[in-house]
Amino acid sequence: MRVAKAVVPAAGLGTRFLPATKAQPKEMLPVVDRPAIHYIAEEVDACGIRDLLIVTGRGKRAIEDHFDRAIELERLLEATGNPRLGELQALLDRLQVFYVRQGTPRGLGHAIACAERHIDGEDFAVLLPDDLYLSPEPALSQLISVAERLDAPVVAVVPVPPQDISRYGVVTVGEEVEPGVFRVLDMVEKPRQEEAPSHLGVVGRYVLPPGIFSHLARVEPGAGGEIQLTDALRALCQSRPVYAVTVVGERYDIGEPLGLLRAQISFALQRPELRQGVRAFLAEVAKANGLL
Ligand code: G1P
Repeated sequence: MRVAKAVVPAAGLGTRFLPATKAQPKEMLPVVDRPAIHYIAEEVDACGIRDLLIVTGRGKRAIEDHFDRAIELERLLEATGNPRLGELQALLDRLQVFYVRQGTPRGLGHAIACAERHIDGEDFAVLLPDDLYLSPEPALSQLISVAERLDAPVVAVVPVPPQDISRYGVVTVGEEVEPGVFRVLDMVEKPRQEEAPSHLGVVGRYVLPPGIFSHLARVEPGAGGEIQLTDALRALCQSRPVYAVTVVGERYDIGEPLGLLRAQISFALQRPELRQGVRAFLAEVAKANGLL
C-alpha cells in the first residue's frame, strides 16, 4: 500500500452539539484555539500526505474558508507583526485541499463513496474528524506503516468499555501478527452490547484500497438505515487480509460534549503557554468539588 491521498468525511449534521452547530459546522468547533478539523489536517500533513479531500455538505462553507487564504487579514497581521496565521499558511503551502459535496446524507459509507473519482484508483487514508488523538506518533502514521509493511488495508481500533461498544464498528480478530496488530476476520457496525464480537471498537482512522468502492456500491443500508463503511470493510476482509491496529496514544471522541471538553483540557495541557494556568485551574476546581 502507498498512501498519497486522504479523505475526511465532514458532512454530518452535528445534532449532538445543537444549538452550537445550528449555524456552523461541528468540525469548526474549537479545541483550544484551532477548529477541530485543523488538527486532522495537521495529522495528514505530518504523514507527508499532500492531497486532502474533504467531503462536505450544506452549511459547511466555513471549512472551505478556514483552509483558504484570507489576503486582507494576512496583510493586516503582517503590517502589525502578528504571526498567528503563519503556521496555517505554511500548512496550506504544503497541503492541497479539495472538496466534494455529499448531496444527501446517507451515511459514512456513502460519504466515502463520494470520493471515488478523486481517489482515482489509488490507496487512500480516511480520518473521521470526531476522533482526535494525542500520541507520540500521529495515529494515521501508525496505521500507514503497518499498511505498507503488510501491504494490506488497516483500521484503527481501541479497547472500548462494554457499555459503550454499541456506538462503534466492532471487529472479530484472529491471529496477532505483530504486537498490537490483528488479522480482522469480521466486522459489525454498532452491535448490541451482548452481541459484540469483541471489545475492540473501530476508531476513526483507516487505510483503504480503491477496491473498497465496489463494495460500497453493493452494500445495502445497514445500522441506522445508512450505508456503512463497516459493511463494505466486512466484505473486503472476505476477499483479502485486513488488519486492525491498536493505536498507541490517547483518543478523544469529540463527537459528543464531554469528549470535546476532555480534549479541550488535554490539548491545552500540551501547550507550554497554557499548561500552568490550566493546571492551577484544575486544582482549584478539584478542591472546590471535594476531589482532592
Ligand atoms: C463511525 C463508524 C464506526 C466507528 C466510529 C468511530 O460511527 O461508522 O464504525 O466505530 O465512527 O468513531 P459514528 O460515530 O459516525 O456513528
